[in-house]
Amino acid sequence: TNTQTSGKDASSKDEGDLIVVGFSQVGAESDWRTANTKSFQSTFTEEAGYKLLFDDAQQKQENQIKAIRNFIQQDVDYIVIAPVVETGWETVLGEAKEAGIPVIIVDRMINVSDDSLFTCWVGSNFKQEGYDAADWLAEYLEKQGRSEETINIVTLQGTIGSSAQIGRTEGFAEKMKEHPNWVMLDRQTGEFTQSKGQEVMESFLKSYDDIDVVIAENDNMAFGAIDAIKAAGKVPGKDIIIVSFDAVKAAFEAMIAGDMNVSVECNPLHGPRVAEIIQKLEKGEQVEKLQYVEEGVYPAETAAELINTREY
Ligand code: AHR
Repeated sequence: TNTQTSGKDASSKDEGDLIVVGFSQVGAESDWRTANTKSFQSTFTEEAGYKLLFDDAQQKQENQIKAIRNFIQQDVDYIVIAPVVETGWETVLGEAKEAGIPVIIVDRMINVSDDSLFTCWVGSNFKQEGYDAADWLAEYLEKQGRSEETINIVTLQGTIGSSAQIGRTEGFAEKMKEHPNWVMLDRQTGEFTQSKGQEVMESFLKSYDDIDVVIAENDNMAFGAIDAIKAAGKVPGKDIIIVSFDAVKAAFEAMIAGDMNVSVECNPLHGPRVAEIIQKLEKGEQVEKLQYVEEGVYPAETAAELINTREY
């Protein structure tokens, strides 16, 4: 079936009446991630009836596995995981299942053969985000009268093996087949961080003097790329088109400044969504196994009007 219920008796709570939630977070690599953490910390408060155990894994799966084992040992009521990569979760999730603790996956997906290892998932359609970026670029180039020109592209990829990287890379690559004049010169990971994004962009600029477009698989890597492009004496947003993902507030500022051309939204506000899932599970209700959130595309011309409406 497409639904699951809590594997644990709702009356077996620790810490008095509070619902104990262990949250294994990827890290603090980006503005998006900070907003995601804040969303959990402001939702799972004692006033709202929760005790949140928060662990920052510093972008390492081994740290996430350790944190999950700690949560199991502490017999938390729910385990929430924002997984760094898709693979390698079977053993530790088997241990959580054995302990009867429901596991909720957020943001990125996991790839497991037995889907009873997690209760449900809520997050983004990363492949769709890749499609949206390519469609925006096609439209933009057409408006510039460049649909037939050779377009040289480089990609700053996210953490290799994460759903956000896989979906965005694959979605964009699939759409590239519709544009035989688009050339992918190079793709390298910038680990979703500004500093690594800048470093990789500097090396791209040394290797290629004819880059038309940068696809940055998140805004923070785009900010690093913008700095590298400026340092190389080129104009980001004009000489080199900047296509990015997340649509965090600072990206709107970069678009208003003319440095970035578009950001495809990735919504980090999962705290309330997970709380709703937990409340349903507490009542013994069924929940959807897979829950995709809605996301938009924000080109530079919309930035000034919308910046004040952005929550993160
Ligand atoms: O999984 C979501 C991605 O992870 C966001 O695009 C990125 O900024 C974050 O680090």
